[in-house]
Amino acid sequence: MACGTSWHAALIGKHLIESFCRIPVEVEYASEFRYRDPVIDSNDVVIAISQSGETADTLAAVELAKSRGAFIYGICNAIGSSIPRATHTGSYIHVGPEIGVASTKAFTGQVTVLTMLALTLAKEKKTMDEGQYLAIVKELGHIPDKMKEVLKLNDRIAELSKIFTYAHNFIYLGRGYSYPVALEGALKLKEISYIHAEGYPAAEMKHGPIALIEKGTTVIGTITDPALVDKSVSNLKEVITRGAKVLVVTNRDVRASDIDTLIRVPETHPLLAPAVSILPYQLLSYYIAKQNGLDVDKPRNLAKSVTVE
Ligand code: G6P
Repeated sequence: MACGTSWHAALIGKHLIESFCRIPVEVEYASEFRYRDPVIDSNDVVIAISQSGETADTLAAVELAKSRGAFIYGICNAIGSSIPRATHTGSYIHVGPEIGVASTKAFTGQVTVLTMLALTLAKEKKTMDEGQYLAIVKELGHIPDKMKEVLKLNDRIAELSKIFTYAHNFIYLGRGYSYPVALEGALKLKEISYIHAEGYPAAEMKHGPIALIEKGTTVIGTITDPALVDKSVSNLKEVITRGAKVLVVTNRDVRASDIDTLIRVPETHPLLAPAVSILPYQLLSYYIAKQNGLDVDKPRNLAKSVTVE
């Protein structure tokens, strides 16, 4: 359980733990969990994720789960903060102090620690064969270099941001592991650029949100899972035919002539892709905010650490 960006990291953690360890996982907004009567007992493990370690709702949710006998594992950044002190055990993500209000390196740090946790559990439970385990561990070690490759796109994304400075609406789409990336990309844009943005699972568009598409609506698609390339492209074609301007971040050979902008990021194991594919969106939000003269570190109405309800 978690709030905000940490909740998006939790969605990726669910995919990782279910896929590597075959353990069912539910992802909860801490603020919702704490005010219902959750079915939880001493057979459950709760992973509480928080950058600051001080988020009031997450802390209260931890206390509630603890009182029901659950075992609590914290994944936090701020050393010695309240949530790590309230949990039974856990891991610090050790990404160093985050200055900007919008979470960036905390997200990639949380996803990395969740990957390590899922791998460790899988090894213990023998739900993954040794070869597969070693291949993913090795690939995890390559992720920092792949992230550095994406940062080389900095100037291109800065240039691109100029096109979007006056956009009013963004829809971020993704499937599978790219769905939490879509949510997080949209959140970054809202937080620091004050532009309306929503993240959706790409195939859900037809159940309502596609009605929002008109000529010039900006749609941003993330495609990183080879098993979902064709499905995702066909979801994007649906918005393209309705006049959307489409930007795609992908590490695959996506061929669709109508995509306006394609940002190619390095290929990796699909389960490790979010830490790489989120970076163009963090940069895009940063540059759109800067173009609009906004303070990217201290966005209006937001606090780095939400210690009140
Ligand atoms: C605040 C911040 C967000 C953050 C959320 C959860 O709303 O502005 O960027 O994602 O709190 O914070 P936490 O410290 O618990 O990860």
